[in-house]
Amino acid sequence: MLNFSLHTPTRIHFGQGEVDRAGEIIATIGKKALIVTGRTATKKTGVLDRVVQALQQAGVETTIFAEIEPNPRAQTIDRAGLIAREQGCDVIVGLGGGSPMDAAKAIATVAVSKRPIANYLRGTESGLWRELLPIKEALPIVTIPTLAATGSEANSGAVITDWETKVKAGIGGPALFPKAAILDPELTYTVPANYTADGAVDMFTHLYEGYMTGDEHAYVQDEITEALMRSTIRFAKPALDNPKDYEARANLLWTSTLALVGITNTGRGGSYPAHAMEHTVSAYYDISHGRGLAILAPAYFSHVILHDRPHRLARLGRRVFDITISDEQEAAKATIEAMITWFKEIGTFDTLKNVGVKREDLLPMAQDTIRVAGNGATTIPSTHPLTVEDVLAIYEAAYE
Ligand code: NZQ
Ligand code: ZN
Repeated sequence: MLNFSLHTPTRIHFGQGEVDRAGEIIATIGKKALIVTGRTATKKTGVLDRVVQALQQAGVETTIFAEIEPNPRAQTIDRAGLIAREQGCDVIVGLGGGSPMDAAKAIATVAVSKRPIANYLRGTESGLWRELLPIKEALPIVTIPTLAATGSEANSGAVITDWETKVKAGIGGPALFPKAAILDPELTYTVPANYTADGAVDMFTHLYEGYMTGDEHAYVQDEITEALMRSTIRFAKPALDNPKDYEARANLLWTSTLALVGITNTGRGGSYPAHAMEHTVSAYYDISHGRGLAILAPAYFSHVILHDRPHRLARLGRRVFDITISDEQEAAKATIEAMITWFKEIGTFDTLKNVGVKREDLLPMAQDTIRVAGNGATTIPSTHPLTVEDVLAIYEAAYE
């Protein structure tokens, strides 16, 4: 196991009805809240009203910014940052899926720094991100997830898209850890089937990225990772079959938080190549992040992991998909097939072509992946450094 330092300071309030405690929880953090949410869901489900009411009852003033689009955009963040400053907000509440929660973190950043969020994005020409990251100053943040997927509720990362330059990049830093996260599984009852399934694939991917690419002597982390993968698969289908299955929704929500709160990947190193490749796809085509990950996973596993670490794929298959084949290479191949079968079962099996990607964009997308995620290098990390050609080969294989 590698040396590590782990700090997960977010206070998590979990359970049925916890959303109604938002007022008393947030009142200990600020007096004037900017509630950052998406354009439709939280209004339609009444959750936004519930949160506003809870805050007002606790004496917290509220301003609502309900304009966050999926794959939140830099220009929207900058507008909301200005509102937060003008209104004198002292706490930012991210209510919704990963997009509003990530947006809340970015808004909390620009409200203090007065810089456009594009300054913080990796791979941009200005190179300013090199001095601005990690982010050390932001307004206090509280998250209230309504979708089990990203784990943004309790980590210090956010992913923002500059639609004009097609850069989708992660920002992060100690100031972005939410002070509190309110996880009420009932808020996820209304998530439609496609986003429920995409969310399951997202958490599954958060779990396999470090497991495949990192140090192989982190026994505890491997065991935790496998348990969380099994939970994802165990509860995704019941949540799809019965959206109001409390245990399924509760277990999925808690798994999504644990999958990216630090405990699985710490002491292991590792990298996020599937994420790097997917972020370019959703930056170009505005598709759901989890769907993009499902499209790329079989090609990434076949092109990279099957050759570099077939024994890790085999282990995943045995521990998570109940594969019993003893030959490592055959078990590894069977694991990829088992994953595809699971994707089909939950309805996420798809192709780049089918979600509208044009073939002529594959090369510029591969180049942008390296530019944004390569930190100035000509490769991105995985089990071996991946070049533009490697990424292009994966996009090609995932095309149709
Ligand atoms: O658009 P609204 O009205 O908000 O509706 C959303 C959206 O259309 C809807 N939705 C959310 N909760 C709902 C609901 N519909 C009905 N009932 C509910 N309870 O679902 C749609 C998708 O929402 P979104 O927030 O975009 O999804 P997700 O949670 O998958 O977040 C995706 C974003 O997070 C980033 C992704 O790249 C993407 O930009 N990520 C953030 C990470 C992090 N901060 O740690 C890590 C991830 O790997 C990921 O990259
Ligand atoms: Zn993800």
